[in-house]
Amino acid sequence: MKDLLSLLAVWSIVLSGLALLVGLFLIRRGDRVNHPRAMLTATALAALFLVFYLTKWALYGTTAYGGPEAWKGVYYFILITHTLLAALNGPLALYVIWRAFRKEFPLHKRWARVLVPIWLYVALTGWIIYLVLKRYGVETGTITF
Ligand code: HEM
Repeated sequence: MKDLLSLLAVWSIVLSGLALLVGLFLIRRGDRVNHPRAMLTATALAALFLVFYLTKWALYGTTAYGGPEAWKGVYYFILITHTLLAALNGPLALYVIWRAFRKEFPLHKRWARVLVPIWLYVALTGWIIYLVLKRYGVETGTITF
């Protein structure tokens, strides 16, 4: 169950990043009908990631890094920036969508251009963290309620 939740979480964040790239490609081609569809799909996948991740966290606790010492600093840098930017990503995405639905497109575009690189970084580092912990993860124990 734990491995399945990890797999579902990582795939939903990776697919969310891919849907984001599709949405970007569509709007660059001037497709205002399918751009919102791709972006709302990306948002739904990111929300799914949160559900899978939090379920796994509640049931099984966290996994610590147990790999080579030389890479520890790099791993924690990635983990901390990933977590902080993921927390920022949610409210920023809602703000960008809200501006679009209100047809305030200059503001939508301005903040979307900040949001897109953050989102891609979160998706990419999510995948990296998953692979590192699969190889070097150490269980820290289950949280009991
Ligand atoms: C998280 C969701 C979304 C993201 C990340 C996003 C991202 C973007 C980006 C980056 C651009 C500018 C593209 C460029 O550089 O030329 C853009 C433009 C645009 N977006 Fe979105 N978008 C999202 C959701 C939506 C939604 C829900 C709608 C419609 C209700 C929408 C409608 C548009 C339109 C019409 C433009 C073109 C505006 C113009 O050129 O004046 N977007 N979006």
